[in-house]
Amino acid sequence: MSKNKNRKQFENIFWIKDKLATQNLIPGKNVYGERLIKKDNVEFRLWNPTRSKPAAALYKGLNNFPINKKSKILYLGIASGTTSSHFSDIIGREGIIYGIEISERVLREILPLAKERKNIMPILADARMPEEYSWIEEVDIVYADVAIPDMSEVLIRNSKFFLKDNGYAMIAIKSRSIDVSKKPQQVYKEERDKLEKYFNVLDFVILDPFEKDHGFFVLKKKS
Ligand SMILES: C[S@@+](CC[C@H](N)C(=O)[O-])C[C@H]1O[C@@H](n2cnc3c(N)ncnc32)[C@H](O)[C@@H]1O
Repeated sequence: MSKNKNRKQFENIFWIKDKLATQNLIPGKNVYGERLIKKDNVEFRLWNPTRSKPAAALYKGLNNFPINKKSKILYLGIASGTTSSHFSDIIGREGIIYGIEISERVLREILPLAKERKNIMPILADARMPEEYSWIEEVDIVYADVAIPDMSEVLIRNSKFFLKDNGYAMIAIKSRSIDVSKKPQQVYKEERDKLEKYFNVLDFVILDPFEKDHGFFVLKKKS
């Protein structure tokens, strides 16, 4: 396992020969075709930066990554579980991911994964309406990857409902989902202005070339 000196180290996230990986919570099984690697009898899953935006952000040199062992996460736009499977590895059996997804068809695809990984709880709901799932507990982190025009507002609204004091958020901003006519840099600036009303910005990276025209923010709730 390399302790790559150019890369910041985070709990339960590994660089193996310059490739990002998480320790497989369910050894012997991969989730989206990613490679499994064994080191000293421990199994890791490579975390593909072209399939998962937090992985792309880590490759791009993110300096803050607030998810760790036992984290409680509210995940907006969990889809079929590619990224959440790695979050599930990182948080381990004592953490939990509440995964909101609006599409019933997509949600159905994550059900076998959630059956195996007990720390993923998929919820069919609209992330614009947190009152629909107001029963969930307070969380340490809200993660948003919903690709809708009002994604920053939706992140803030959910954070007001569920994020603990001093909690963190991360958001993948897809420039083209917000305004195709604007330059991505302009969109990132405008979203930053919105997010700064509620959060302090800890980190920002652009995800190109892994994800075209995407920016990634790491945020901390203002006290
Ligand atoms: C870019 S995909 C998410 C990919 C996923 N985060 C991953 O990395 O594995 C965006 C997802 O957000 C969902 N979505 C869009 N609008 C939503 C809403 N209002 N509430 C909840 N989910 C929504 C879409 O159905 C889609 O599955």
